[in-house]
Amino acid sequence: MNFTDNVVQWYHKNRRDLPWRNTADPYVIWLSEIILQQTRVEQGMPYFYRFLEAYPTVTHFANATEDEILKLWQGLGYYSRGRNMLKTAQLVQLKYNGIFPDRYDELIALKGIGQYTAAAISSFAANQAKAVVDGNVSRVIARYMGITEPINSTAGKKLFQQLADELLNKQQPGTHNQAMMEFGALQCKPKSPNCGICPLLETCFAFNHNKVGSLPVKLKT
Ligand code: ADE
Repeated sequence: MNFTDNVVQWYHKNRRDLPWRNTADPYVIWLSEIILQQTRVEQGMPYFYRFLEAYPTVTHFANATEDEILKLWQGLGYYSRGRNMLKTAQLVQLKYNGIFPDRYDELIALKGIGQYTAAAISSFAANQAKAVVDGNVSRVIARYMGITEPINSTAGKKLFQQLADELLNKQQPGTHNQAMMEFGALQCKPKSPNCGICPLLETCFAFNHNKVGSLPVKLKT
């Protein structure tokens, strides 16, 4: 079995049933991805539910005031995320009549939506073949392939995006992306991953060269 089939099979056995995984609504996925950008799943979950209840559609969100958004955001940190979301919601309301876009090229043009978020929304909501690259995904690739380029250098970011694009399962990009993120979060963890139960251990560079502890390389910023 190849790399991606292994990761996807692992995902079907080990995945957490998270609320934003049971929807193809790009607005709901956007909400979850922005909240989760600098926030752990357990911390972000109650905020996700509160926002969805207060603003069930992007039109509701666009009609809110900045004060209301920031009040609901309280405790999450990085408040610019909340402010940017309001601007994005208002733009979507105006430009797309309240229909949240699900195409990569449209998403990347919106404020506060970068490569990562555009790839996440377009692959989860519309199965567009765009590879998601975050810290989890970079770590899995760096270890599995033995990449010593720093994951946060300019050259490294480009390289990991390229490698992730090559690995992407084009038949099921959404599932593949969720699987890569979940595999990094639960199995190929930053500290003391349980390699003994890893389905990729036979072909993992880091495991076979005793480099699990030293990969990925990250520049101090
Ligand atoms: N962190 C960021 N996006 C996530 C997602 N879709 N599922 C789980 N954790 C995440």
